[in-house]
Parts: sequence; structure tokens; C-alpha cells
Amino acid sequence: MITTCVFDAYGTLFDVSAAAREAASEPGGEALAASWPSIAENWRRKQLEYSWLRAVTGEHTDFWTVTQDGLDWALEAEGIEDPALRERLLSLYWSLSAYPEVPEMLQALQAGGKSTAILSNGSPDMLGGAVHSAGLGDLLDDVLSVEAVGVFKPSAKVYDMVIQRFGVAKSHVLFVSSNGWDAASAASYGFVTAWVNRAGLPLDRLPGQPTYVLNDLAEIPGLAGL
Ligand code: LAC
Repeated sequence: MITTCVFDAYGTLFDVSAAAREAASEPGGEALAASWPSIAENWRRKQLEYSWLRAVTGEHTDFWTVTQDGLDWALEAEGIEDPALRERLLSLYWSLSAYPEVPEMLQALQAGGKSTAILSNGSPDMLGGAVHSAGLGDLLDDVLSVEAVGVFKPSAKVYDMVIQRFGVAKSHVLFVSSNGWDAASAASYGFVTAWVNRAGLPLDRLPGQPTYVLNDLAEIPGLAGL
């Protein structure tokens, strides 16, 4: 039986491409008009690459630093040097929108007696900002940041945090991520796993396979037995 539903944050509960899209539509954002999709994609890709490489080499820093480093790479790749735009993009990252189905989905889990949490690479202050601005604070039992263990996903030390916090068996945890690599790694770890594949991407060729593949988060309460 699933007792505990744990969510990745960026790309899963929060729409990470929203920052660049919103900045492109604002006064001062003209430089982004044509390039925001590739900036958003490169920003995310480099942010994640840097997190994995730092996990492998042991050169940990917090997610805010790799988020800035990834953005700097993405802006330089487009030939954009604009400190004000850089600051605006970074500030939007602290108030990302949640996907529309998120509040109702979390309310259903809470009403059904399930424990709910975020487990994210994000630093505690970044996660606090996003949770607060999306109004999700009362719908989550905890927000777990990798800063407590000083290494990024997919280190098993990160997934261990869920077991330590909730004191449950791995098989009673439904772990939900939009990142194929995160879902695969959590499946290898032993969680029941849902991969939210909004973009219709191919399955990652990794040892773990997600238990479920979804288009959005609406089905999560049903998968948790509600
Ligand atoms: C997170 C990133 C990986 O929230 O999306 O952990």
C-alpha cells in the first residue's frame, strides 16, 4: 500500500520553462523573443549536467549556484550579455508557476491520509520561495532538500532521506518525477515510481524502469489507491 507520495520539484510540480517564457514577454525581454525556447532548454540541460558532474566528482555546491552557472552558459551560447536580463531570469526562478492540476492533486492525497513531500536538488531557500509563491505550503508535510546530505540526485543518499524522514518501507513510497533519469534511479532504488512524461520523450535507457508513465499529475491519487 502506498502511504507516502514524494515529488521532484523542478519540471514536476513547477514549470521550469516558465521563467524564460515570461521574461521574453516583458518590457526589456526583447532579446529573448526568438531565443527563449533554446535558452530554457540549454539552461535546464547545463544545470542538470553540472549537478551530475559535481555529484560524481564530489565537488558539491548548492543548486542555486549550478542554476546560475547553467544560465550563464545558455546566455553566452545565444550571444546575450545583459546583466539586468540575467537577474530578471534568476528572480523568476524563485516564483515558478505550479502546473494547474497540482493543488487539487495534493489536496486529494492529503484528504486520503497520504503523506506528501518534495524531494529536490533545490536549496532550501529556493524551494521555500517556489512553494510559497505557488501556495502549496499547507499541502505538503515536508520539503526535503539535498543540502541535508550534500550531494545531488541520483545518489542513493538523497532517496534515503525519504526513508529516514517518514520511516516507511521503500515499496510504500510513490515517487513522482518528470525527469526520466530521476524516475529510473528512484525505481532502481526500490520506490514505486511514476514518470510524468509531458513532452512525450522516449524512455531513458537506464537500469531502472518507472512503474507508471503519465501525461500529467491528475492520476496520482488513483495510483496511490484513492
Ligand atoms: C529537482 C530537479 C532535479 O527538483 O528537478 O530535484
